[in-house]
Amino acid sequence: MSAKIIDGKALAQSVRTGLKEKVEQFKLSSRAPGLTVILVGDNPASQVYVRNKIKACSDVGITSKLEKLPAETSEAELLALLEKLNADDSVDGILVQLPLPRHINEQEVIETIRADKDVDGFHVANVGSVVTGIGGFRSCTPYGVIKMLESVDYPLTGAHALVIGRSNIVGKPMAIMLLEKNATVTVAHSKTKNLKELALQADVIVAAVGKEKVVTADMVKPGAAVIDVGMNRNAEGKLCGDVDTEEVAKVAGYISPVPGGVGPMTIAMLLSNTVEAYERRLQ
Ligand code: GUN
Repeated sequence: MSAKIIDGKALAQSVRTGLKEKVEQFKLSSRAPGLTVILVGDNPASQVYVRNKIKACSDVGITSKLEKLPAETSEAELLALLEKLNADDSVDGILVQLPLPRHINEQEVIETIRADKDVDGFHVANVGSVVTGIGGFRSCTPYGVIKMLESVDYPLTGAHALVIGRSNIVGKPMAIMLLEKNATVTVAHSKTKNLKELALQADVIVAAVGKEKVVTADMVKPGAAVIDVGMNRNAEGKLCGDVDTEEVAKVAGYISPVPGGVGPMTIAMLLSNTVEAYERRLQ
């Protein structure tokens, strides 16, 4: 058996095309949606992510602004900038790229962003709204994973989903979103003792650990859907995920590649949240 590829790049492109049409309409009657991205310091991976986000905005017609701050920026300076952007009516979405330098309290920063401009979906008000099912912005990566599973009509109701990883950005919101789709959800993490046993029972595996080959072919039930959220460099410096894709593809029913899987969908969902923030503000 050979798994069907869930092509996140193609799916992201179709989401972006839909958003672009919407934004063109907005511009006829009003203005374009606006996103401000803040990058503190010079983490090389963050620089790449931010560049991709800014480029994606311009492709769909969202007005974006990059605020590049030096690594020595104090927490007070960053919070003051956020208060200014919170009050700026031309700014619909605010994103502070993580991680931040160690002297800055990330949670404090996230909570300072107005919840209705928090297009990352990290603010407690958004997390709480998603958990209770009353709306709120969804964290972009898990939201993108749900869209990927839906794009192949994967039946999530009653499915056993295993989420590997429990970060606030991916693992925890992923579990909530799968639960919302009526899956039976297990969350595994670094202290989990019987990962292989749990994985073999899973119809859906979402790997979000940040370590190469956490999911190998002997852990996957034939026909399962395996979504790879990992973004790592292997010994040869090549980009790879958390899944041994080549071998797992021989067993799984569906698999998402790295690169070209979850990554482009994370950005597409950020654009989608930004357009939603704009629509809510202008309503
Ligand atoms: N760092 C890694 N992923 C993300 C993300 O989705 N949003 C932000 N703001 N920072 C990140």
